[in-house]
Amino acid sequence: MKNSITMIDNRTNESYEFNIINATKGPSVVDISTFYKETGMFTYDPGFTSTASCKSDITFIDGDKGKLTYRGVEISELASKHSYMEVCYLLLNSKFPSKEESEDLDLELRHRGFLHEGLMNLFRAFPSNAHPMATLSSATSALSSFYYDHLDIEHEEEYQEMARRIIAKIPTIAAFAYRHSIGAPFIQPDIDRGFTENFLYMLRAYPGGKMHRNANGEDHIREIEVKALDTIFTLHADHEQNASTTTVRNVASTGAHPYVAISAGISALWGRAHGGANESVINQLKMIGSVDNVDAFIARAKDPDDDFRLMGFGHRVYKNFDPRAKALKGLQDQLKDELHLDSGLMQIASRIEEIALNDEYFIKRKLYPNIDFYSGVILTALKIPTSMFTPIFVIGRTVGWITQWIELKKDHKAKIARPRQLYLGK
Ligand code: ACO
Repeated sequence: MKNSITMIDNRTNESYEFNIINATKGPSVVDISTFYKETGMFTYDPGFTSTASCKSDITFIDGDKGKLTYRGVEISELASKHSYMEVCYLLLNSKFPSKEESEDLDLELRHRGFLHEGLMNLFRAFPSNAHPMATLSSATSALSSFYYDHLDIEHEEEYQEMARRIIAKIPTIAAFAYRHSIGAPFIQPDIDRGFTENFLYMLRAYPGGKMHRNANGEDHIREIEVKALDTIFTLHADHEQNASTTTVRNVASTGAHPYVAISAGISALWGRAHGGANESVINQLKMIGSVDNVDAFIARAKDPDDDFRLMGFGHRVYKNFDPRAKALKGLQDQLKDELHLDSGLMQIASRIEEIALNDEYFIKRKLYPNIDFYSGVILTALKIPTSMFTPIFVIGRTVGWITQWIELKKDHKAKIARPRQLYLGK
């Protein structure tokens, strides 16, 4: 049997044969790279619903079964048994680190977390109420000017260094962007704190590195909070060729600096249909205001003449429960008592979930809660300001973007991303 597909142009009866490339998991693909040459036509697939834009061996999603793996390891295992640091190492190196490798990475990221003094001036140029995502994207782009000589790197160790630097600096940029947005002085990273704890520290500390202590004299940053945020970073670390990753790859395909490509990814992530949904979920829950109003908003979500959508529901790939959402729901239940989750918002969220999971409209369209539905409630419980929800997504996803960038750089057959169009003008 030939591993190919034949297409017939019914206008002329001409037939064309295209090879099928088998995937190790998931759907195979039809290689249509010669389609235009052979048929004189383009293919039309707005939103890339059926188009594979690259070959990859980093992350795999089985949307029908609700499964997600990084380098072949199930997300539930990564979230429950491994630290975010180990997950970063796994994504970048295709294997788990030894204890020593993990400690080395942790130490290196602590040292690389500081920003060039020149970059500090940039934050002050933004309006005082600038959204942290705007500042984060701009400052990440500006970072390329400090490492411009690294543009034409070719060696594995140079790629890895480029990756570790951006992973280390993004939390600092994000924290500074937030502090600027509330007019608070910047808090430099604390070399004695690990990656995730350091981020909470930079958000919460007072000048001079002083922290609030509770009545028992314990540090304001609790271990359980660090663990929860670490898990959230892991769950966001990579997700195949989503809109922001595709943006990173598109920009990188032109030969632009990797940090500019990541800045573009940050901008793409900001949209409400993508990473910005986590902020929108909480704003929507607050707007709904009470369990009594849920029915009316569900009716609006189902009304074809109303643009209103339930934020945190639906996904282009998952037509089953988002496994990241499942992990977060477990985490939410676990944290419920310890962190005094906001019961008002949680009650509204639970009611929405209950109705939607049993409603014909949502069942028929396979609309399940996605990761953003639960992450907002948990981040609220961690006292993370709402404007920082999407920057937190950025911190977790940076490793995925830069891993995808490395994969693209190493693919010597990769072409500049340059889609065609169906012209309907004059
Ligand atoms: N609420 C109500 N109806 C919805 C929702 C929703 N959240 N999502 C999809 N639908 C409906 C659409 O109206 C459409 O109905 P129709 O067939 O009657 O026209 C059908 O479900 C299919 O929707 P599409 O927009 O075609 O699905 P697509 O795969 O293009 O979009 C998306 C996926 C963007 C995530 C969409 O479900 C959405 O807007 N969800 C809300 C925003 C959100 O939570 N985004 C986060 C995604 S996860 C992430 O990026 C981390």
